[in-house]
Amino acid sequence: MTRWPAEAIWEAVAPLLPGFTVEVLPEVDSTSSELMRRLRAGQPEPTLLVAERQTAGRGRMGRGWVSQVGDSLTFSLSLPLAPVDWSGLSLAVGVSVADSLHPDLRLKWPNDIWLGGRKLGGILIETAGSGAAQRQVVIGIGLNIVTPMADGLSTPPAGLREILPGVDAPQVLLRVVEPLVRAVQAFEAEGFARFQAGFARRDLLLGQPVALSNGMTGTGRGVDAVGALQVMTANGLERVTSAEVSVRPVAA
Ligand code: BTN
Repeated sequence: MTRWPAEAIWEAVAPLLPGFTVEVLPEVDSTSSELMRRLRAGQPEPTLLVAERQTAGRGRMGRGWVSQVGDSLTFSLSLPLAPVDWSGLSLAVGVSVADSLHPDLRLKWPNDIWLGGRKLGGILIETAGSGAAQRQVVIGIGLNIVTPMADGLSTPPAGLREILPGVDAPQVLLRVVEPLVRAVQAFEAEGFARFQAGFARRDLLLGQPVALSNGMTGTGRGVDAVGALQVMTANGLERVTSAEVSVRPVAA
């Protein structure tokens, strides 16, 4: 089994998140599914769960997330969260992860991490608990370390070693987790506005021709203060907020 920096991460994060635990599993269906099951079973301790292999990794909108053992980093973080407004959380997470890793990474609204014209990673945000008050959030992140084969993928993939030669999954985990916890806590206190400029600097769709899954086409005009995507269409400026809408850049 790979050596993971569980203790170093625990030491950095436990002061920020009382009761925090770090767990590495050789195999699980999905780190996000496992943490959601634990929350529903009444185990609310903030947890970082890393899996060396996922047998049923999940992406957004019911898609799967396939990754090769050793060639990728797959983890989920659960923690209690009570922001005034949840909108823009996946964008704030993306800004944090990208800022921890490399200036060349781009963010594709609402939750993809890209390198050049290819997808390098994805973010899946789920919540447990009801009511407007405090809920538990599970933030699932998958990052390619080695560039995967493009076979069968709708979007061509990229890997972190293209820009961080020799980097491995444990090193990447160590770099991203503590800043991520701090970013999520800043989001809770201040909302997406705090991350808007950071997102804009990495916005893959800014000024690009885009096509939305609801049939709309136009040009990306950035995101607003609550993280909604703005698209200039033939009918004027449209705001896209629905997580059920997917958007893709169109070759000009
Ligand atoms: C997407 O691009 O649609 C989001 C992909 C999220 C994948 C990560 S891998 C760790 C965590 N566990 C999962 O099953 N999914 C997320």
